[in-house]
Amino acid sequence: MSLFNLLVSKTIMHIPGPLVGFFARGYIAGEQLDDAVRVARELNGQGIMATIDVLGEFITNLDQARGFKEECLRILQTIDAEGLDANLSLKPTQMGLLLDRDQALANIREIVARAADLNSFVRIDMEDISCTDATLDFYRTLREEFPGHVGVVLQSYLRRTPADIIALSDAPMNFRLCKGIYNEPRTAAWKDPYVINRNYTRCLERIFAAGGYVGIATHDEKLVFEALRLIEKLGLEPDRYEFQMLLGVDEELRRIIVDAGHRMRVYVPYGESWLPYSRRRLKENPSIAEHALRQMLGM
Ligand code: FDA
Repeated sequence: MSLFNLLVSKTIMHIPGPLVGFFARGYIAGEQLDDAVRVARELNGQGIMATIDVLGEFITNLDQARGFKEECLRILQTIDAEGLDANLSLKPTQMGLLLDRDQALANIREIVARAADLNSFVRIDMEDISCTDATLDFYRTLREEFPGHVGVVLQSYLRRTPADIIALSDAPMNFRLCKGIYNEPRTAAWKDPYVINRNYTRCLERIFAAGGYVGIATHDEKLVFEALRLIEKLGLEPDRYEFQMLLGVDEELRRIIVDAGHRMRVYVPYGESWLPYSRRRLKENPSIAEHALRQMLGM
């Protein structure tokens, strides 16, 4: 870890809110659903799809989970009413996974059922390793009940991911493939960036070979190159995959991918709990602050 990153990681909980807000600004649509709708509409105008996410995770009581469930239902209704080219992303711990697993599944089931009614789609984000088994179980259960309306995220830093793809390939698969953002023990996760990238490509090959749909979620030019190479080699139609990027990150690369005729979806988070969210993200991954500084300085 660079000295700058170490400094951010150690001091983030004491950095004043406005300064954290400065780093987080470009990455969050705003505090209200209206803000996310506005950003999603702008993206749609540029030929880009969106996935809307209400900020909140690792909640401490089930009333909060109920509140987040209601908000997710409202997002789906609003996407439908506004005619947006968008879907919903949610986090299992936001639905109470670490408090009451059955209740969390019931909450997510209600949301996916609504998405199915509206012919929409729910992506279940992947959180830290304490959630991986349950999250994949939820996906397995819900894809059987609502095929075509639910997908899950896989992380290429996890050693287990290639095996998870094989285990899930007994039914149509819909994944978002990312590197993974949490700080996991070396026993569970690859640490070397080169190996994480190799594993990413390996997972992508495995998903394509098994006929799965994949959201290629990365801003890493090397991985974009590998993905494009595979797409060309396999002669894949654009309806077999999409690229995905975070709001505010490398819009130039995003435009290059879109202009080359590939589908692109941008992750649009919003919500009042942006400050704890941003603090956690910066603590887990201080390089975000470095990226923001570099962008600001044009480096
Ligand atoms: P890498 O970190 O190597 O970044 C490549 C380049 O992109 C950097 O050099 C930098 O220029 C730029 N960049 C990357 N991140 C940036 C940032 N935040 N700000 C500014 N510049 C940045 N993770 C997870 O564990 N569970 C999940 O459910 C999701 N969901 C998800 C959805 C989507 C749409 C995306 C794009 C990503 C996620 N992630 C995630 C996060 C993911 O795991 C990963 O941490 C980040 O995407 C960064 O990894 P890259 O592949 O972009 O490579």
